[in-house]
Amino acid sequence: MSRDEREAQEIFAEKYGVGRGEVNLRIERQVMGGDWGANGYTTMAQADELAAHLDLHPGVRLLDLGAGRGWPGLYFAASSGCEAILADLPMEGLRLAVQRAAAEGLSDRVHVVVSSASHLPLRAGGVDAVVAADVLC
Ligand SMILES: C[S@@+](CC[C@H](N)C(=O)[O-])C[C@H]1O[C@@H](n2cnc3c(N)ncnc32)[C@H](O)[C@@H]1O
Repeated sequence: MSRDEREAQEIFAEKYGVGRGEVNLRIERQVMGGDWGANGYTTMAQADELAAHLDLHPGVRLLDLGAGRGWPGLYFAASSGCEAILADLPMEGLRLAVQRAAAEGLSDRVHVVVSSASHLPLRAGGVDAVVAADVLC
């Protein structure tokens, strides 16, 4: 792992490891339009626009790079019926995404991978669409 990747892992592991109370959820709902665990600036309306551009539907395999707690890939799996692979460095956020996927009945279509975007354990052509929301890597 590069120094930048290690730093990102540490910073975000700490952030995702802290529980989110009802106040945080209410703020997210009000500002972003939903409560899928967003940790950036991509709103629900922008995510819907992205999904339309990506033409997501059942059978499409989407890769969400730097998915954090699962936003927006998890939401896309729920709203479009696509399959989603959520990739990020810290396990803490992906753990929450796995829990949310189970709660939403999405476990069979949502997969997580703890990996840097620069060393993904995926073969070329293994996904149909890619999204990276508020990720610089
Ligand atoms: C601002 S957060 C956005 C998270 C999520 N997409 C969202 O909008 O809520 C940036 C995320 O990018 C991840 N990240 C940074 N560098 C990365 C890299 N090289 N590979 C994979 N993920 C990376 C961080 O761990 C963090 O979860």
